Amino acid sequence: MLPIHRFSMVQPQLYWPGITSNMHSTVSWRPMSGKDVSAVMLIADEIHPGLPERASVFAERVDLFPEGCLVLATGDDVYGYIISHPIQRRCPPALDTLLAEIPRAADQYYIHDLAILPSCQGHGFAADGIKKVLGVARSYRSTCLISVYGTFSFWRRFGFERGTDDAGMSAKLDGYGKDATYLERHNVTEGASC
Ligand SMILES: CC(C)(COP(=O)(O)OP(=O)(O)OC[C@H]1O[C@@H](n2cnc3c(N)ncnc32)[C@H](O)[C@@H]1OP(=O)(O)O)[C@@H](O)C(=O)NCCC(=O)NCCS
Repeated sequence: MLPIHRFSMVQPQLYWPGITSNMHSTVSWRPMSGKDVSAVMLIADEIHPGLPERASVFAERVDLFPEGCLVLATGDDVYGYIISHPIQRRCPPALDTLLAEIPRAADQYYIHDLAILPSCQGHGFAADGIKKVLGVARSYRSTCLISVYGTFSFWRRFGFERGTDDAGMSAKLDGYGKDATYLERHNVTEGASC
């Protein structure tokens, strides 16, 4: 196995080995820390070569909303990540943008990014991670995301449907590539404050 270690000097484009079946039992989601950002960046650069974001974008989101930022890991070895946080409804940030703060008027939860290395795909890890962040999202009436790479049918499994795509939203989606689609789900929760 050659995972993405937070101190690794491995060049990610060279080789992504698989992990053995018994190792899958040791891999799980845990909170992301600032120390994980370099490993997360290696995965992001590999999975999203056409949608680059600076390390400072990841680091800022961990600082601003740590409960929404997770890594799929065993110890310091990182295999995937999720970045999520509250936003003002229908105002997802443009790609590679610093937020400065979580808006006080935030009234919607947003899943910014989910990526899992090929060696760990197909084992239910994404479903586990999405359930965790949807648990964090429960105090908001809805959760949204921008689906890329034709993943609408994947997100639909978790209750997401196409949201209204007006001119403002279309302009925002442009930065995420031609197949980008704005999706929303109603959070099944009682007593949502927003
Ligand atoms: C999409 C991605 C996160 C899925 O991760 P994963 O760990 O393989 O997903 P899971 O194993 O939890 O799959 C859950 C279910 O979704 C299905 N699924 C997985 N990827 C899918 C896809 N691209 N389209 C449709 N269904 C998909 C699985 O078959 C599984 O179905 P099952 O429960 O009936 O067996 C992963 O493939 C990935 O990181 N892709 C590249 C980045 C990406 O596309 N991110 C999302 C962009 S918005």
